[in-house]
Amino acid sequence: MTKSILLTGHSGYIGSVAAPMLIEAGYDVTGFDTGYFADCTLVPDGARPREIRKDIRNLEPADVQGFDAVIHLAALSNDPIGNLDGRWTEEINYRSTVRLAELAKEAGVRRFLFSSSCIMYGASEAAVVNEDSPLDPKTEYARSKVTGEAALRELADDGFSPTYLRNGTVYGVSPHMRFDTVFNDFLGSAVTKKRITVYSDGKPWRPVVHVQDVVRAFMTVLEAPLDVVHNEAFNNGAEELNHQIRELAEIAADTVPGCELEVLGKASADQRTYKADFGKFGRAFPDFEFKWNPRTGAKELYDAFTSIGLTHDLFTDPRFTRLAWLKKLLASGELDGSLRWTSDEQVAA
Ligand SMILES: NC(=O)c1ccc[n+]([C@@H]2O[C@H](COP(=O)([O-])OP(=O)(O)OC[C@H]3O[C@@H](n4cnc5c(N)ncnc54)[C@H](O)[C@@H]3O)[C@@H](O)[C@H]2O)c1
Repeated sequence: MTKSILLTGHSGYIGSVAAPMLIEAGYDVTGFDTGYFADCTLVPDGARPREIRKDIRNLEPADVQGFDAVIHLAALSNDPIGNLDGRWTEEINYRSTVRLAELAKEAGVRRFLFSSSCIMYGASEAAVVNEDSPLDPKTEYARSKVTGEAALRELADDGFSPTYLRNGTVYGVSPHMRFDTVFNDFLGSAVTKKRITVYSDGKPWRPVVHVQDVVRAFMTVLEAPLDVVHNEAFNNGAEELNHQIRELAEIAADTVPGCELEVLGKASADQRTYKADFGKFGRAFPDFEFKWNPRTGAKELYDAFTSIGLTHDLFTDPRFTRLAWLKKLLASGELDGSLRWTSDEQVAA
């Protein structure tokens, strides 16, 4: 078993679910995160790893010594942040990924799991996108995943095995919750407004995957024979996890008593559409089951939100929308114009 893991981005949305699951599974986990969202908790944190609180742009060789694997989640995690200042996304998502991988390789770390995204296929014309489909990144964020994968590919050799997990949109309860992703947003809106508004015509396709299944898939790749995962990209999901936005909205509305659904069909709305082919993942890991689907996931979110008494104020709090929170930290001067903490205390907190 792979024992010792460096988990970057451990205090983010996926990372704060991944860390306790990895610890529970017996891994020795060290987190590495600058902590942009460290205080943005919706539900209590689970078991926490030992942590390095540091900006990944300041990574040093010593930070990556002694690990069997890196799971690399740290990134500016969506399009709107990339649109605010593209250089941040290039530096943090692309350049720092390359440096992390180079240092990991030098240190003899064998496996490197990169949290990539199906967003790299863009608004694909292809009916279904598989790992060989043309990439059409439309934003700085999507481009950073394409260039990140390409640079890692160059580093792959007999001693270093990167794997690229291209996630769909992730949903589900996490201590460091995000409401700026589609299904979490629908459930939050359903619970706190009793209304879901779909601005597009609802027809675009999105693969959606539960955050715990994402982590289980990462763990499966971590333990897979190297010849199965070495330098391979996988769309991370299953065929039945492709849904049209309208279906997702209907499931969310059905789950929450008294919730109304309106579909506005505005031409200007987000019409990005991609249906992912998950055949490669299924063939590589025939025993893996995605345990969650949007119906069970909607119930989980509903139960969690009702048990904490989620209010509209909490649902719309900047802490749970990545762009809004970073803007708040910039406006208060806690982050400087390069998105670095201005106070040493925060760095060392
Ligand atoms: N959530 C999704 O739907 C989704 C889908 C596809 C891919 N991904 C990818 O998975 C990864 C994790 O996503 P998430 O939803 O947990 O995002 P998130 O924003 O919740 O977490 C990202 C973490 O990275 C950390 N980070 C950012 N910049 C850093 C820096 N300069 N130095 C050190 N740490 C830094 C943040 O503090 C944060 O804790 C990202 O790479 C994202 O692109 C996410």
